[in-house]
Amino acid sequence: MQFDIKFSEDLSLYREEVKIGHHVIPNAIASHPMEGGDADEKGSPTDMTFRKYKRIAKGGAGLIWVEAVSICKDGRSNDKQLWITEDNWRDFKALNDIIKKSAKEEFGEDYHPMTIIQINHAGRYCKVKGKPSPIIATHKKNLDERLGIDESYPVVTDEYLDSLKEKYVQAARLSKKAGFDGVDIKACHGYLLSELLSAYERKGKYGGSFENRTRLMMDIVEAIKKDAACEGLVISSRLNIYDGLPYPQGWGVSEGKGLEVDLTEPKKLVKSLICKGVQLISLTMGNPYAFPHINKPFDLGNYIPPENALHSCNRLIREVGNMQKSFPETVFVGLGYSWFRDLAPYVGAGSLKHGLCKIIGFGRESIAYPDFARDILENQEMKRSSVCISCSKCSEMKSKIGTCGCVIRDAAVYLPIYKEMKASGV
Ligand SMILES: Cc1cc2nc3c(=O)[nH]c(=O)nc-3n(C[C@H](O)[C@H](O)[C@H](O)COP(=O)(O)O)c2cc1C
Ligand code: SF4
Repeated sequence: MQFDIKFSEDLSLYREEVKIGHHVIPNAIASHPMEGGDADEKGSPTDMTFRKYKRIAKGGAGLIWVEAVSICKDGRSNDKQLWITEDNWRDFKALNDIIKKSAKEEFGEDYHPMTIIQINHAGRYCKVKGKPSPIIATHKKNLDERLGIDESYPVVTDEYLDSLKEKYVQAARLSKKAGFDGVDIKACHGYLLSELLSAYERKGKYGGSFENRTRLMMDIVEAIKKDAACEGLVISSRLNIYDGLPYPQGWGVSEGKGLEVDLTEPKKLVKSLICKGVQLISLTMGNPYAFPHINKPFDLGNYIPPENALHSCNRLIREVGNMQKSFPETVFVGLGYSWFRDLAPYVGAGSLKHGLCKIIGFGRESIAYPDFARDILENQEMKRSSVCISCSKCSEMKSKIGTCGCVIRDAAVYLPIYKEMKASGV
């Protein structure tokens, strides 16, 4: 197979500012969203959340993408997921303030990282009181079986989906009040809006045709764009461009072509989103509950992937590059770099140099090695002794107990929680 991964030793490329409207992202490094499952019962951030984002902010990434925050109670991925409401938006303001303040303390008064908050409905991955409570847009045999549901399980109604638009807009308004620079209408990793994109077999106005499958997402974007209380918010999206499932279960594939990537529809959607005013897109792939190797290539995990990790990284980097080249004016954030450990800075620089994306995003590195950005920018390296070792322990915690962090590099905090989880036999 052909590898499209590029390398460059020119790490000064990361120091380039990235402009989005009147905003300036101070460097080309993003901290990707990493759900930590450490909110209180009202969905507010706790000391653990503040600690995590303070460390990330002091680490120097120019774009800080805050993890999945629920738009409604029944849309949470677990009882400890963040959830923004009229009652607690000030706690989110405190979170945004601490990010901005910590970054300034470290890099000076004129330093302004861009903050994006990811708003989401967990769809088939909702959990209430620790129990899976799937809200599905369409049946997907492979994914249904994993949740222990069959064709008799009800598909969410059009009326329920209609009601979500206002909830997304309200979450966006509160995010604006809380001071975030932008909001991410999350449509990835198999959650509700992501699942709708491949609802080919759903009946009614949210299923079947491309227009129907993308309707809710487009309606939400349009409504936020028009809402006076959201004025000035950067509208962004973390968007799947490939699910890793064949037609008619997956998005980013075509009929009769198995698992081959086909970006025809994702490109059509990206074009429409840009026309509606989306300015920043973080591209991603896969479903972390079913095929984690597609989104976060790993060395150790709960199954042996059908391809090697280099192949998975290559797919992520190549297809993000394909998108970036198709929409050269738009800012796309890329992924697929943490697996390269201390060589990641050179792979990312290769992508920047060859125009495969405008910002290099790191997920697991943000919790394993929050100073990774500073080390790239100031010391031209990522330290071998600090990098994520792609052991999947954080993912294991996320799926089993919700609360998660880096068990290896942030062991003082997360190893005891991991051990307790193991001892409890979850
Ligand atoms: C524990 C954990 C939590 C995550 N939470 C989120 C999330 O809240 N939102 C999201 O879009 N992606 C989430 N991701 C995916 C990451 O943002 C990222 O795409 C993935 O880890 C691959 O990037 P990496 O190779 O740099 O780690 C999560 C990943 C892990 C391992
Ligand atoms: S637990 Fe830490 S080292 Fe292991 S995959 Fe997660 S972030 Fe990386």
